[in-house]
Amino acid sequence: MTHPADFNDRMLSLGLARVSEAAALASADFIGRGDEKAADQAAVNAMRDQLNKLEIRGTVVIGEGERDEAPMLYIGEQVGDGTGPEVDIALDPLEGTTLTAKDMPNALTVIAMGPRGSMLHAPDVYMDKLAIGPGYRPGVVTLDMTPSERVSALAAAQGCSTRDITVCVLERPRHETMIEELRTTGCAIRLITDGDVAGVIHCAETAVTGIDMYMGSGGAPEGVLAAAALKCMGGQMFGRLLFRNDDEKSRAKKAGITNLDRVYTRDDMVTKDVIFAATGVTDGSILPGIKREVGYLTAETILMRSKTGSVRRMTYRNPTK
Ligand code: FBP
Repeated sequence: MTHPADFNDRMLSLGLARVSEAAALASADFIGRGDEKAADQAAVNAMRDQLNKLEIRGTVVIGEGERDEAPMLYIGEQVGDGTGPEVDIALDPLEGTTLTAKDMPNALTVIAMGPRGSMLHAPDVYMDKLAIGPGYRPGVVTLDMTPSERVSALAAAQGCSTRDITVCVLERPRHETMIEELRTTGCAIRLITDGDVAGVIHCAETAVTGIDMYMGSGGAPEGVLAAAALKCMGGQMFGRLLFRNDDEKSRAKKAGITNLDRVYTRDDMVTKDVIFAATGVTDGSILPGIKREVGYLTAETILMRSKTGSVRRMTYRNPTK
């Protein structure tokens, strides 16, 4: 029998889906309205309200920022009703604020929960990321390989040509050299303007998304969230924190990180079994966005548990009154 203080992932997962759904529904009014801040704030408020209804003693370990910068869902904030298990929470109430404001694909609400001490306390710096889906031998690609070596290694593992590999990359000036090198292999590149949590998740469902590999730098907090998703869906992920100045290094030290050059695997970033939920805000490759009908809003959520590897898709139709 499960003790009330145990992390009962099976029972908590439905509550987590509700948290993710509520954030997405709250941001619906802001899709395509050009106001990133308002969209994010609506999602934050809704996520926090729902989290505080759960029977947990939760600590936000990946959140909206440092306490002095973010009034709500800041790192270290205590959430839940103060009963039940002690849990760590990683969240991004609106992953893709610009995507939402511009009504572009793949904006999501994202949240992961695990027992206390289950997730890397990543500071808000960049992370060099590399991810592939399930079914490959461990280390078939690594962060130490060059981008073109990774494509060749993945093609060899699949027994296909490098032209058959599709790599997902955030379109940023800092990735121009990497993209140029990738082009020499003949692989296809899916450029995304934002949203690398979705970018990484796409690797776990190649048959649906057409994406074999994700690479490039993006937010470290988003890296931990993506690692939590892949821990549930299967797949490999590697991340190395990138520091642009001493202030960023001191943020890492403050978060308890001593080896600044460490390469983290998926299971280094997420060390215990977790649950993960994401709800589509705008239409994307893995989740449809919020649909509006007269009198209703409909949201689709993907809810996963790493312990069982179960991936559940749930459609929620909510009357708007
Ligand atoms: P926001 O939702 O906070 O705007 O983040 C979107 C995002 O694209 C992330 O998915 C990604 O990790 C990060 O921004 C990349 O940062 P930058 O825009 O500085 O390259």
